[in-house]
Parts: sequence; C-alpha cells; structure tokens
Amino acid sequence: AIERTLSIIKPDATARNITGKIIDKLESAGLRVIAQKRARWSKADAEAFYAVHKDRPFFGDLVAFMTSGPIVLQVLEGEGAVAKNREVMGATNPADAADGTIRKEFAENIERNSVHGSDSAENARGEIAQCFSEEEIVG
Ligand code: CMP
Repeated sequence: AIERTLSIIKPDATARNITGKIIDKLESAGLRVIAQKRARWSKADAEAFYAVHKDRPFFGDLVAFMTSGPIVLQVLEGEGAVAKNREVMGATNPADAADGTIRKEFAENIERNSVHGSDSAENARGEIAQCFSEEEIVG
C-alpha cells in the first residue's frame, strides 16, 4: 500500500551540510518528499516528539542533541514507505548498520545518527500530525 512516514534529518547532518546526500538516498529508494521544512526545535518540541522515550537513560542527551541545531522535517510517501525508509536508514546504531544505508555512510554514533524515521504506520500518522499541517503536505 502507498504509505506516508515522517523523516527527520538531524543536527549532526545539517551541521555537516549533507542534507542533499541524505535526500538523494531517500529518493533513490523510491520515496517521494511530499512535505519538507527546516526548523529549530525548542526543548518542549523535542520532549513532546520523543515522549515515548522519556524514561530512557538517554532522554536528556537526546533532547539536548535534537535542539542543538537546525533539523529538516519531511513527509515521505511511497509503497511501504515506513519499512522502506527504515531499510534505507539502516540500524539505529551505525556500528550495526548495513552497507549503503544512510546511517552506515553518514551517522557519527548511536545518538548522532543523522536521521529519524517513524517505526510504524500508526506512529507515522501521529508524528506527521505533530510536525505538519495538512496544507504543508502536497502529495
Ligand atoms: P531515533 O530513531 O530518532 O529514535 C530515538 C533516538 O534516540 C534514536 O534515533 C537515537 O538518536 C537515540 N538513541 C537511541 N538509543 C540510544 C542509546 N542507547 N543511546 C543514546 N541515544 C540513543
């Protein structure tokens, strides 16, 4: 089925000016960018987005990192977009990521891992609604 998923290019990647290289990987995998904006998250934005991780030991560091610089938020659309995006991103920890994946090529470590992607179609709907208005999405 044609799905939508939320993608975020993280501050480690915007700092190194490699957003285009990452978008090329997504588009080459057949995903279409149907919404995109650059933003700088407040602490409240990052805490709300990552609320499911609030009890994890890395939560404070994650919020600090995600607010440390600009990010690029995207809605991606395509056949099986949630799974396809996760395949192109590679494992959360770049040490475990397969060759050719975004995280294998670009991520610095498990926290500074260059990209986020929704982990299910249901979470994708929630994350997209959190980050974009309907008018910003042009399919
Ligand atoms: P992401 O897919 O955005 O979802 C949660 C993020 O938390 C994850 O990518 C990493 O950036 C970060 N993260 C996950 N596990 C760890 C960990 N063990 N240590 C530090 N950061 C982590």
